[in-house]
Amino acid sequence: MSVWTRRLALAAAFIIAALVAGPASAQTKLKWAHVYEISEPYHTQALWAADEIKKRTNGKYEIQVFPASQLGNENQINEGLGLGTVDLIYTGINFVATTYKPLGITGAPFILRDFDHWKAYRDSKLFADLAKGYDDKSKHKIVALTYYGQRHVTANKMIMKPEDMKGMKLRVPPAPLFLMFTKSVGASATPIAFSEVYLALQQGLVDGQENPLPTIMAKKFYEVQSHIILTGHIMESLLTVVGNHVWGKLTPDERKVFAEVLKQAASRASDAIEASTVTSDVGLFNIFMHYLDQPKPSTDSPGGKASIDNGRALFNSVGCAVCHTPSMTTQASRLTAGLSNTIANLFSDLEIHHMGVRLADNVSQGGAGGDQFRTSPLWGLGQRIFFLHDGRTTDLLKAIEAHGSRGSESSHVEENFDLLTPSQRQDLLNFLRSL
Ligand code: HEC
Repeated sequence: MSVWTRRLALAAAFIIAALVAGPASAQTKLKWAHVYEISEPYHTQALWAADEIKKRTNGKYEIQVFPASQLGNENQINEGLGLGTVDLIYTGINFVATTYKPLGITGAPFILRDFDHWKAYRDSKLFADLAKGYDDKSKHKIVALTYYGQRHVTANKMIMKPEDMKGMKLRVPPAPLFLMFTKSVGASATPIAFSEVYLALQQGLVDGQENPLPTIMAKKFYEVQSHIILTGHIMESLLTVVGNHVWGKLTPDERKVFAEVLKQAASRASDAIEASTVTSDVGLFNIFMHYLDQPKPSTDSPGGKASIDNGRALFNSVGCAVCHTPSMTTQASRLTAGLSNTIANLFSDLEIHHMGVRLADNVSQGGAGGDQFRTSPLWGLGQRIFFLHDGRTTDLLKAIEAHGSRGSESSHVEENFDLLTPSQRQDLLNFLRSL
């Protein structure tokens, strides 16, 4: 198409759109309510969608977005949708599942593997069928699914195994599957509205809660908890639901605009959430470590103290510590005196390195290229308490070997590692495992 034919086509489309729209129709104001913070992608993408819908309906629909429980907690906005006092909402799977149970299936622990698995579910006929089941029953309309992240447990103690949660008062969303999994580990489930969780933790009404890291960050739960345990037990989603009183009045064309734009917003928010869990790890780590108790490296297992001490010395002398800096001094913390200006175990320098082909997985961070990485903090490696590593560490030897790939800055350090005697190598591994 030449520039001119394209312009003509555009002009024609414009005229047709104007004819279809007819005389300027009255403006309709809609309310989109949710319980998330204005800094979160759910909100920023909702604002984008509101703008886009206004544009694409020639100003007919003006959507105002009300964040942070301004129009009520999640129960209340769900009720509001029925009463017609709110028009669109984001809501968790579990709320929708109170109306149509089968939709709740992804709220069960360890059902979805990872983000790709989640996307496959979002785009599946299964999800479309389940959403329709809800639509038929409630008459409201599910238009999109947004990724909410993996849920992790926070507490004031270390949790290494399910039994460690016995007797713990855990705040969970008031939904059957959450109550079930809490019960299955012997904890007592304490349902508390999302907006009241911080206070409940601070006042000791509950011992812990579980949410994705960006939420823990946004809601500052790390200020009132000492541990974050990367359980990743649930891949959580939000639904965008349009109230029956609105959906029922939209023309087929308007429905198309709403569905397209809201799906696109959901997809953008999902990618942003997924990207933030990859790229902000180090940023989060930097902040969290001012508040959280450090994992205590083991001194006697495995291999025993002598072997671990020797491994620690080798870690320095071989050159690993050039990148995986063992410690840093925290900044002043106004909340946790004990962690103010203190030396914290770190095992990362938080800098970006060229890692060569074998460690490259093309996840770029900030201005970094696909073959560049920040040093993985090895903090709490063996204890899986914190930090988010990318899973390579199931085989420590392989992870170390991968440092020696073509183009990697750490090749010579890897060569040093290869020159160690087998028992020295074992000492170094024992040291890593003690972290
Ligand atoms: C030139 C910098 C550099 C040096 C030297 C270095 N590393 Fe690394 N290391 C990195 C980077 C960067 C990563 C992260 C790669 C990634 O995220 O894929 C990493 C990752 C690791 C991991 C995997 C961590 C995880 O959670 O997946 C281990 C284990 C590790 N290094 C151990 C060592 C040991 C042991 C040595 C010394 C023999 C060493 N490193 C030397 C930069 C370095």
